[in-house]
Amino acid sequence: MAIQEKLSLMIPGPTPVPEKVLQALSKHPIGHRSKEFQDLVESTTNNLKWLHQTQNDVLTITGSGTAAMEAGIINTLSKGDKVICGENGKFGERWVKVAKAFGLEVIEINSEWGTPLDPEEFKKILQEDKQKTIKAVILTHSETSTGVINDLETISSYIREHNTALSIIDCVTSLGACNVPVDKWQLDIVASGSQKGYMIPPGLSFISMSQKAWEAAEKSNIPKFYLNLKSYRKSLLNNSNPYTPAVNLVFALDEALKMMREEGLDKIFIRHNRHKLAMSNAIKALNLKLFASEKYLSPSITAIETGEFDAEEFRKIIKNKFNILLAGGQDHLKGKIFRVGHLGYVNDRDIITVISAISNTLLNLGRITSGQAGEALVIASKYLEAN
Ligand SMILES: Cc1ncc(COP(=O)(O)O)c(C=O)c1O
Repeated sequence: MAIQEKLSLMIPGPTPVPEKVLQALSKHPIGHRSKEFQDLVESTTNNLKWLHQTQNDVLTITGSGTAAMEAGIINTLSKGDKVICGENGKFGERWVKVAKAFGLEVIEINSEWGTPLDPEEFKKILQEDKQKTIKAVILTHSETSTGVINDLETISSYIREHNTALSIIDCVTSLGACNVPVDKWQLDIVASGSQKGYMIPPGLSFISMSQKAWEAAEKSNIPKFYLNLKSYRKSLLNNSNPYTPAVNLVFALDEALKMMREEGLDKIFIRHNRHKLAMSNAIKALNLKLFASEKYLSPSITAIETGEFDAEEFRKIIKNKFNILLAGGQDHLKGKIFRVGHLGYVNDRDIITVISAISNTLLNLGRITSGQAGEALVIASKYLEAN
């Protein structure tokens, strides 16, 4: 292996994969109708429910996160249904596109990219809907494109008060990184993807469905076949899948979920929070600006403005010099921000390393002093040592 291939992935997905999980992936496939595979599905399903903090069904789909997003919509809604979509970034925008693609009537609640959605806007529209014409409220919890985490707890409380609308939530970069208590917040439909907090490669997505969501599924008239979740639910009764699943990714999932159980939910959330605080405070010490509103920083991603310096050039230097892959800005943010993913299998060393690489690059560009570079590391260490 060439030494240049020792790449460190610090993007918000795909995320690094633990050695044990890689070994599980490389096993010889087994028959997906075998007892052995059924045992595996039983184990992963139980552990997925633990991770989602739910008694609802959690279904595994072969497909990326967007497959689960699409499945959530086409299984519970009908053409012409009125829905609210929260949009404050690329993935909120994706929700709007999926909803419109299936003929839904979309009321958008927007917020400038980098700022959170305002829960009070949801409250107002939901309270005014006396006729209960709004069938669903759809939004992204952790907005990967901007590094903002939306206040899902408050928004979901307003959805519950409405008492009719379903909540359809993209938790792709929040599940496995911060608290998403699906049952406590009564989230009806929650979509996520394997290449994020789950610490396995891309290819699987997950969707949890409440009783209310299944009741809505009885009335949904949007055509579907591969993503018809009723087939997945029926097969799951037998710990099976309707179609050939990505067997080796399920091996990997089983291993990764066992690792997560060993670490424990609270410790996983604390680790992500420490990393968020270390990153964001070091970035400020380096005289760079955080792109997201500081009270709403995602535990998974830190988005950083580079000012007059081209963020793509900055990323290139870090990739070439340190073999650390950072993510760029999307759409109008390209060249203006770069994003550091600290989601999943990330330890304190990864955080210190990426901060050092950023500091070194700024130092060489003459943008900071060596004193500031040192100070950023001191600050990061302080946050890493807390808890
Ligand atoms: C917030 C969010 N939603 C959805 C997705 C789903 O994308 P994909 O279909 O590429 O897994 C992603 C992936 O980056 C994401 O970050």
